[in-house]
Amino acid sequence: MAQPEKFHAKTLKGFESLLADELKSLGAERTEIVNRGVAFYGGRALLYRVNLASRLSIRVLLPLFRFEATDADTLYRRVKRYDWSLHLDNKMTFAIDPVVHSPYFNNSHYVSQKVKDAIADRFREQTHLRPSVNKDQPDLLINVHISGRWVTLSLDSSGGSLHKRGYRTGQFEAPLNEVLAAGMIMTTGWSGDTPFLDPMCGSGTLAIEAALIAAGIPPGIFRKQYGFENWKDFDQELMEHVVKNLPQEKEVKVPIIARDIDPEAVKLVRQQVEQMELSHLVEVEQADFADTKGAEGITIVMNPPYGERMKPGDIESLYGIIGTTLKHNYPGADAWILSSSKQAMGRVGLKPASKRMLYNGSLECSYVNYKTFKGNWKDHKSGESQG
Ligand SMILES: C[S@@+](CC[C@H](N)C(=O)[O-])C[C@H]1O[C@@H](n2cnc3c(N)ncnc32)[C@H](O)[C@@H]1O
Repeated sequence: MAQPEKFHAKTLKGFESLLADELKSLGAERTEIVNRGVAFYGGRALLYRVNLASRLSIRVLLPLFRFEATDADTLYRRVKRYDWSLHLDNKMTFAIDPVVHSPYFNNSHYVSQKVKDAIADRFREQTHLRPSVNKDQPDLLINVHISGRWVTLSLDSSGGSLHKRGYRTGQFEAPLNEVLAAGMIMTTGWSGDTPFLDPMCGSGTLAIEAALIAAGIPPGIFRKQYGFENWKDFDQELMEHVVKNLPQEKEVKVPIIARDIDPEAVKLVRQQVEQMELSHLVEVEQADFADTKGAEGITIVMNPPYGERMKPGDIESLYGIIGTTLKHNYPGADAWILSSSKQAMGRVGLKPASKRMLYNGSLECSYVNYKTFKGNWKDHKSGESQG
């Protein structure tokens, strides 16, 4: 049997241990948590499966080699020394994806240029020809990661971020990153056995990811292309085997509800779930959250407006309404709110059960869990602490 290879799955900050569990569930035997990622070991079937089925990976890298460098000449020389003909030829295109956190290299564009030159020069010197660069749709995406003086060159098996699931046909304002949405849901521990609601759904990312989780649908089935499919050693038969053995859709017995106050958002999400053939799983409704009620045991995950498009007073009063609606209309709920506005979150007025930091792009957000009392909250003396 072939030796297991080491892979590196990258994720968003805060989802590392959830990702390690997910990788184990997909067949990884050994995992090691690192900053914003998880190293794992296995064969090519595992690599293909992780790309197709992981909800929390942003990309999966195959590290090639690692060295120390503190200047551009050493970087160039060491990259040029590697036998790139193992992965590239003159007819293929390539691109460099640089990630640089180093006092020695402060310009990632320059790093990318040096690595590209080293690879192209090696080919030119050996064959008088060189592969060309295609930044948008390269056959081979090469990741260069510099942390301090350590440089790691890897192949990007995903060929671009896996948050681009391939299902989005339109968007309403700024949708959440799909990996962030899946991670928010997986953080709650919800797995499709209790009703799910996103009452402020915008483009519907949370409800769609919830439906995929509940039905066990791999997120990658909508994506047309993975980087590893262009690799020289790509094994088509193995890929077909992996695809054939992906989990079958499970029956979902609970409602998954997406609501928004804006009819445009509702229209878009309805079209989106229809196009994905998920209409049987996701109920899409127009409603003001303040006018709604929910049964005990419901999981609510929401990402209310942060305030970019609203006046400060309006945003604070909206968060106040969210708090009172949860308290009075959603007894026994497990509610989770993501927001970058600390001030507005203070207006929710309920006692948080837990709180963690997540990043929506570069925006630092708090992700807060509230558990509302079952039954009539007035029956609970300690209900006072809920605001
Ligand atoms: C930040 S967006 C949500 C983005 C969403 N998570 C996504 O991935 O596309 C906030 C949404 O809340 C909706 N909204 C604002 N006030 C609302 C209310 N009172 N009831 C229901 N929806 C509301 C807005 O129309 C907007 O679509």
